[in-house]
Amino acid sequence: MEKDNLDPTGRTKRSSTRRVRLLHAYLLLAVSGALFYFGQGYWSSSTQSAVKLPPHAATSLARCRSLQAKPGPSRDFYKRSQSDRFEEGTQPILIKNAKIWTGDINGTEVISADVLLDKGIIKGIGRVETFQLKAFKDDLVVIDAKNAWVTPGIVDLHSHVGDSPLPDLNGAQDDNSLLGTAQPWLRALDGLNTHDDSFLLSIAGGVTTALVLPGSANAIGGQGFTIKLRSTTERSPSSMLLEPPYQINSSFFAENDRPRWRQMKHACGENPSSVYHYTRMDNLWAFREVYNKAREIKTTQDQYCNAVLGGDWATLNKSPFPEDLQWEALVDVLRGRVKVQVHCYEAVDLDDFVRLTQEFQFPVAAFHHAHEAYLVPDVLKKAYEHPPAVAMFAAVARYKREAYRGSGFAPRILAEHGLPVVMKSDSPAAIHSRDLLFEAQQAHYYGLPEHLALASVTTTPADTMGIGHRVGYIKEGWDADLVIWDSHPLALGATPVQVIIDGIPQLPGQFVVEKPQAFQVTPKVPNFDKEANETVEYEGLPPLEPEETVKEIVVFTNVKSIYSRTEESIQESFLAQEADSYGVAVVEKGVLKCFGSSLSCDTQSLLQSSSIPVVDLEGGSLSPGLITYGAPVGLEEINQEPSTTDGYVPDPLMGSVPKVVGGDGALIRAVDGLQFGGRDALMAYRAGVTAGIVAPMHDGFLSGLSTSFSTGARHKLASGAVIQDVNALHVTIRHFGSPSVSTQIGTLRHLLLHPDENTPLGTWFKKVTEGKETLVVEADNADIIATLVVLKREVERAHDSKIKLTISGGVEAYLLAKELARAHIGVIQVPARPFPGVWEQRRILPGPPLTEKSSIMELLDHNVTVGLGIVENWAAHNTRFDLAWVAIGAGGRLSKADTIALASTNLEKLLGGGGASAQAAHDLVATKGGDLLDFESKVVAVISPKRGTVDLL
Ligand SMILES: *[C@@H]1O[C@H](CO)[C@@H](O)[C@H](O)[C@H]1NC(C)=O
Ligand SMILES: *[C@@H]1O[C@H](CO)[C@@H](O)[C@H](O)[C@H]1NC(C)=O
Ligand SMILES: *[C@@H]1O[C@H](CO)[C@@H](O)[C@H](O)[C@H]1NC(C)=O
Ligand SMILES: *[C@@H]1O[C@H](CO)[C@@H](O)[C@H](O)[C@H]1NC(C)=O
Repeated sequence: MEKDNLDPTGRTKRSSTRRVRLLHAYLLLAVSGALFYFGQGYWSSSTQSAVKLPPHAATSLARCRSLQAKPGPSRDFYKRSQSDRFEEGTQPILIKNAKIWTGDINGTEVISADVLLDKGIIKGIGRVETFQLKAFKDDLVVIDAKNAWVTPGIVDLHSHVGDSPLPDLNGAQDDNSLLGTAQPWLRALDGLNTHDDSFLLSIAGGVTTALVLPGSANAIGGQGFTIKLRSTTERSPSSMLLEPPYQINSSFFAENDRPRWRQMKHACGENPSSVYHYTRMDNLWAFREVYNKAREIKTTQDQYCNAVLGGDWATLNKSPFPEDLQWEALVDVLRGRVKVQVHCYEAVDLDDFVRLTQEFQFPVAAFHHAHEAYLVPDVLKKAYEHPPAVAMFAAVARYKREAYRGSGFAPRILAEHGLPVVMKSDSPAAIHSRDLLFEAQQAHYYGLPEHLALASVTTTPADTMGIGHRVGYIKEGWDADLVIWDSHPLALGATPVQVIIDGIPQLPGQFVVEKPQAFQVTPKVPNFDKEANETVEYEGLPPLEPEETVKEIVVFTNVKSIYSRTEESIQESFLAQEADSYGVAVVEKGVLKCFGSSLSCDTQSLLQSSSIPVVDLEGGSLSPGLITYGAPVGLEEINQEPSTTDGYVPDPLMGSVPKVVGGDGALIRAVDGLQFGGRDALMAYRAGVTAGIVAPMHDGFLSGLSTSFSTGARHKLASGAVIQDVNALHVTIRHFGSPSVSTQIGTLRHLLLHPDENTPLGTWFKKVTEGKETLVVEADNADIIATLVVLKREVERAHDSKIKLTISGGVEAYLLAKELARAHIGVIQVPARPFPGVWEQRRILPGPPLTEKSSIMELLDHNVTVGLGIVENWAAHNTRFDLAWVAIGAGGRLSKADTIALASTNLEKLLGGGGASAQAAHDLVATKGGDLLDFESKVVAVISPKRGTVDLL
């Protein structure tokens, strides 16, 4: 290795090595100021007389000698006795009785042991002997893990924390420069804000290390930096860095040592193209143009170094090592010293980029997002030097065209092709990194093997970013970063009991939810082999319609539980404690005719008939279909493609509404814009979300009238497609900047106190004031919500009535739980797990492990009616997991029936639903292997009384 460093020319190694060593010895003197002369014979050139060395000689030769050095840990890295990140005063910790997933042996090693942490390092794993502990005297902290799961800290390969801090304020949006298409000289470090609410929240999800990347507005956005998320004594961005490259201060690695890995963000496809109003063709040229430039510089450097290391004195004398601060990072890419992280979605982009890597000969660390990577594994394998890892979301897809073919089966399919799989957050843009482990859990649910799922958020990202020699594993000598979990980490809702970074505990440790024993073992996941195969067969767009629709009798066997609706709530109608008392359910023409024991339903003859479908639920369940609300499911297919959406209503507060629409008194109905057969709607249907309630899309104050519809219907005229034409009247009160919040409130007061009954808008507001229709106000801020409580009282006094008012959003509503309960105002919390995205949402109640209660539980404890909503369409099919998560976090205080109500009867009640037609439309959902809230079950059928059918999925 060293010889290679010294001899880039490939000439006989011994002689050139000797020459350079001698030269080096002289140079040490030269730089210390002595005047120096060479005698004949050291140089192969024809230098006859003694020459004076130029001042740059030492640096230039050092640069040349280092050109071949490959990045990696310092050569004496594992001899360290203390971490370079050790904070004075940190106490040693002994974690006893842990069940440790170490990350070793390809993620298959699990050991029961103790772990000793000291000086920021893992000092020992196993049975730590008493004599070893004597050295610590009194300051050793002992944590009894009581056989809890312990994993390495979670590593996020794709984050924007710090550069895009929360809450989102204009003054700190530093992750996208718009000054050029390819800017490898920019550094995410230079925008890293230390005041980001994400840091602690991410730690609360077990995340300890993150790669902070520039955004994707440019073909080359700049250099990324790896940080640890804990706060530091120095309180600076620099002190958060993990093994920063020497280039941050233009210093250099020591002789005989190695450079550190650098990171560089690249982006293909829609993002750079839309920012610069150009095409994919232009984007590829942006890459080739700058890589060509970098290649020229590299060639110049190589020629220079060949000459000077070969003893060409004239060249050394003429100029220093040719360097260009602006391009040095890209030249380093060509020298294989940079982990290139490429935001790249589609087959066309992946193919383009792989071709680029071959043309300019540099490896890719990972393709990120990469929604079509699973369709072209062979393309990835053609990348220069080694196949890249693929860093993905589990469920976030279809928000733009290039994400349309995204699939939850991608992780398992890529793993089957031997490609490294990483799950990532893109925090705060897509997934908040607090929920990163959930990405791995979903990948596991859809078929990624357990060891790879755990590795996908620990060892694989650590290795992919070149930091696996110290994080991502629990091994002696590695950094003391680990998480003690309250359940198996792949069990839904797994939450840290404690997170340790550099040996420092990060959590209060007292808000711990007791989990049942079933949560301590690997979840037994359903089989999705057929679905995964079909996804590839249909190029990412497999048919989502039911496999069969049965109009007559269907028998469900091995039914463990049945939940059903009463007028306003959900109740448990049947529950078998033991497998031998599992029951049956008989459905005829979409109506549940009988359930209970096989005897009581007299299924003997039915089970013998070959024409009657029998579905074995294997301990599964029947429960009411769920409702999705909050995102425009049913009004848009691809968020960023206007031609696929209903579009936005005109807003009378932002500009006057055209007369032909009805002027400022116009009122738009969502039912007029409903679209059926969309993929998010059908995926939701297949996941037990059989109905949606949607309000007109708007970006100002006024939305319009919401409607409810069946997510499984093929078109609007199909039976049961529209469940209720009109649900409720929706407005939004937010801090838009202009018009002011007080203007928005004033407008609402005016509409409620003086509704103009000559207009559709006034007519509906009149009905609201009479308590006949529901008013839904989207608001998050506690002060706005408090003002609405006062306004409600004022309007009720003026009209001597009771208004039906619902808050949607409601991130800060828990602060007013008592007042809302007293005012009979319900809250739809959107999303289920709140995040301080913007200022008016900053006072979240995060729940365990940071606070005892979540905001949903705080509201429920005050008897506020609570519903649960989503923000983006893709999330609709995850509703049952969102629900289950709430229940798990409540530690058994919320029954399954009450949990299901949050996304069914409660939502209906809060959104003006539940009319006679709606009652009749209530679908039942059959799940196999568990109930709707279990992470181990799969939805297999939808029973529809309205349509008179059973859809077998
Ligand atoms: C880990 O997996 C790789 C790739 O499948 C395999 O080549 C290697 O032998 C495995 N290592 C161990 C220790 O099992
Ligand atoms: C420059 O940065 C490197 C890498 O972090 C560090 O080791 C070195 O101490 C820094 N030098 C100065 C002068 O700050
Ligand atoms: C899925 O495809 C693989 C490879 O073509 C095949 O071996 C397997 O049998 C298929 N599985 C199912 C359930 O269709
Ligand atoms: C909520 O309702 C329950 C049952 O009606 C009642 O026992 C409890 O006191 C109520 N809680 C509050 C905070 O009002």
